[in-house]
Amino acid sequence: MKDLISKIVSLAKRRGFIFPSSEIYGGFESSYDFGPLGVEMKRNLKQLWWSEMTKNHENIVGLDAAILMNPKVWQASGHLTAGFADELVECKLCHKRFKRDEIKDNRCPECEGELTKPRKFNLMMKTFVGPVESEAAQTYLRAETCQGIYMCFENVLKSMRFKIPFGIAQIGKAFRNEINPKNFIFRTREFEQMEMQWFCHPKETDRWFEFWKKARMKWYENLGIEKKNLRAKEIPDGERAHYAKRQVDIEYRFPFGWGELEGIHNRGDWDLSNHSKHSGKDLRYFDEETKEKYFPHIIETSVGVERSLFVFLVNGFQEIKGGRTKTTKSAKEVEILLKLDKKIAPIKVTVFPLVRNKPGLVKKAKEIYQLLKPHFVCQYDEIGSIGRRYRRADEIGIIVTITCDFQTMEDNTVTLRDRDSMKQIRVEIIKLREIIKKILGGEEFLKLGKLVK
Ligand code: GAP
Repeated sequence: MKDLISKIVSLAKRRGFIFPSSEIYGGFESSYDFGPLGVEMKRNLKQLWWSEMTKNHENIVGLDAAILMNPKVWQASGHLTAGFADELVECKLCHKRFKRDEIKDNRCPECEGELTKPRKFNLMMKTFVGPVESEAAQTYLRAETCQGIYMCFENVLKSMRFKIPFGIAQIGKAFRNEINPKNFIFRTREFEQMEMQWFCHPKETDRWFEFWKKARMKWYENLGIEKKNLRAKEIPDGERAHYAKRQVDIEYRFPFGWGELEGIHNRGDWDLSNHSKHSGKDLRYFDEETKEKYFPHIIETSVGVERSLFVFLVNGFQEIKGGRTKTTKSAKEVEILLKLDKKIAPIKVTVFPLVRNKPGLVKKAKEIYQLLKPHFVCQYDEIGSIGRRYRRADEIGIIVTITCDFQTMEDNTVTLRDRDSMKQIRVEIIKLREIIKKILGGEEFLKLGKLVK
């Protein structure tokens, strides 16, 4: 199973999803660059999440808060204290650091050297603002995007004339000086979060917690994540994040075992009351109708963009023994099919001329490509046999393949091939745009044209 990760890492690099960062200098631990396909896939995920949160739910608005904030924010949030720290031991010989709970016999796992006593190591990434690197100029790159949301809580409440309950959604970068970044893009030091903070009455928290837990589980299922590989794990006392009164981790069964995909947290009034205390600004909500004044409680949904992208790659990755495109030579050979949801797949359409040595066909195929390009993420491919081109398209999850052939020159029709069923239909070029829209919208492929036998 672990082998699956190396296959995905290799596909991701070879086909332009994810590259190691600064590779020509030997890379940079735990940093990755998202290539042409990776960036499209990330954008799709973010767009889907954004629409789900801000369009499909009432009373949720978006925000784009600053990464750099007053360092007092992190004092109040508890991130500078023990709450956001790992216990580490250091090897006195090689000076490598390890998480305390990863050590077995009090010897360095790398060189057998003697270890120091455990010390807390904070995960906040320090930086300096302005020209002087003094303590006064020190701040932090945000470790979770939601603190920016709390900073804007009152401004949003007032400017939008909201009443409780309401939500604020945000997508943005977060940074953690992780001790042990690992498993490709699963845990990195720089990542993006999609977080939604739901502000509600303290008595309503249990109901909303259940609501958001269900809604978020459903989101993954609707995007094709297999149910057997998803679970909601209740995190017990003592293991929860420092701010969480209740925490459920939505976990995915990765090739290396179950791992957190998204966190659902009941943060209670931890954040608003602490920010009130530290800033001196009363962040309580006043209910005009009941005349009640209280700190709204917060239910949070929080997921990493890269971590969810990783889940979709693992979930969609299939190896088909003996192949499916007639290009395989033996029953042992495998072909890759990346079965991504239509909304997530980075490239939706590819256009082929049947052969590349007929200028008329090539010209026509390029015209079709130009026709579709403004409307769908589209590519043109004329290299190698048709089988090879199908194979390349399947490997990156392209939904529809369009082939221009000799009949096209006679009647202005083309064949469309569906990635999953490999069935083909014939349609008029003039209707292509509409038909592709329907396919991507989930309409039944075979009903949209004449079946090619
Ligand atoms: N605001 C709450 C919060 O940040 P978290 O459980 O620490 O909670 C939420 O993080 C999500 O962010 C995780 O479920 C994961 O998807 C993502 N995440 C956290 N740390 C990460 C890291 N080092 N690399 C990639 N993704 C990470």
